[in-house]
Amino acid sequence: MRIRQNEVCRLLGIESPILQAGMPWISNPGLVAAVSNAGGLGLLHLTAEMAPDDEPVAKLRENIRQARRMTSKPFGVAFYLPHPQVTSLMDAAVEEGMRIAVTYAGSPGLYTGYLKDRDVKVLHQVALVRHARSAESQGVDCVIGEGYEGGGPRGSSELSTLVLVPQMVDAVSIPVIASGGIVDARGFVAALALGAQGVQMGTRFIATEQCIAHQRYKEALLAGIDTGTVIAGRYQWPTRLLRTDVALQARDEVPRKGRDTMEFWESHLGLQATRASLLEGDLDAGLAYAGSGVGLVSEIMDAGDVVRTFMEQAERILSTRR
Ligand SMILES: Cc1cc2nc3c(=O)[nH]c(=O)nc-3n(C[C@H](O)[C@H](O)[C@H](O)COP(=O)(O)O)c2cc1C
Repeated sequence: MRIRQNEVCRLLGIESPILQAGMPWISNPGLVAAVSNAGGLGLLHLTAEMAPDDEPVAKLRENIRQARRMTSKPFGVAFYLPHPQVTSLMDAAVEEGMRIAVTYAGSPGLYTGYLKDRDVKVLHQVALVRHARSAESQGVDCVIGEGYEGGGPRGSSELSTLVLVPQMVDAVSIPVIASGGIVDARGFVAALALGAQGVQMGTRFIATEQCIAHQRYKEALLAGIDTGTVIAGRYQWPTRLLRTDVALQARDEVPRKGRDTMEFWESHLGLQATRASLLEGDLDAGLAYAGSGVGLVSEIMDAGDVVRTFMEQAERILSTRR
C-alpha cells in the first residue's frame, strides 16, 4: 500500500495524501499554509475569516495572496457551487494562480471544463456512488467520498465512510479520497485499506494552533465524547453538529417535511447559523459543525504536525501489520 507519492500526490503535486477540508469561516490562510508546508494539501474556503461587510471576491483574492506569501507549496480553494458569485470567485481565484479546486453542493459539469482549460485540477465532493460516476463522466480529476460521520452538511443516504468508499473505488477509475470520521492515523490507514488514495479531514484540523476557529469551539471539540455530535435536518439537509443545547433544538425543530428551501436551511443550519459559534465562540447562539470522531480529538496540535505525525504513525501501523 503506497502512502507517499501515490496517485493523488502526483495529481496534486503534494508529498502526503492528506487534505484539510475547506470549512466556512475557519479554513484560513495560516491553517492552509501550515498543512501545505508539511506536505499535505490545505484548502481555503470562500468565506475564510470573512467579516459581514467584506466583499467576497476581494476577500478571496486577499486570502489567496496571504496563503501564497506563507507557502510555496500547492494549496487549493473549496467552492460552494450554489454561491451567487461562484463564477466571479472562480475567475478571481484562477487569476490569483489557483491550480486546485474542490467543488461541492452541485453539479461539477458546469465548471469543470472552464477550470480544466485553465490548468486547474478539479476534485468534487460526493456522498453517493452514482454522483461519483457522474462527476467522473463530467471530467473531474478525483472524487472525495463523504461519509455520514463527517462534520457539517451530510448526504441524505446516511452511508458511512466504511461502506461508501470501497463502493466508490469499485465504480470509478479516477482516484477516491475518503472523508468523514477520520481523525487519527488508524482511520487514515483504514481509508487506504478501503482503496482510497488519500483522506480529507475537517474536525481534526479545527483543533490546531493555526486554525482561527474560536478557542471555546476548539475546547468544546476536545471535550467531545463518542456521543458528542447530533444530526439535525435529517430528512432535508442532514447536518452534523456538536451536541449543544441549540443543536438539539435545531434537531428537534427543523421540520420533517415542507419548507425545504435553501433559505430555510441557511437560516436554521447553514453558513450564517455557524458564524457566531465557529468564529465568535458563542456556542449558545450558533451551530457548531463537527464530525463524530470528536471523541478521538484530545489535543490542540500544530497543523503541520497533524500531517507529519499521521504519516509517521500510518507507516508504523503498516509496517507492524506486514
Ligand atoms: C466546521 C465544518 C464546516 C463544514 N462545512 C461544510 C460545508 O459547508 N459543506 C460541505 O459540503 N461540507 C462541509 N464540511 C465537511 C468537510 O468538508 C469534510 O468533508 C468533513 O469535515 C470531513 O469529516 P470530519 O469532520 O470527520 O473530518 C464541514 C466540516 C466542518 C467540520
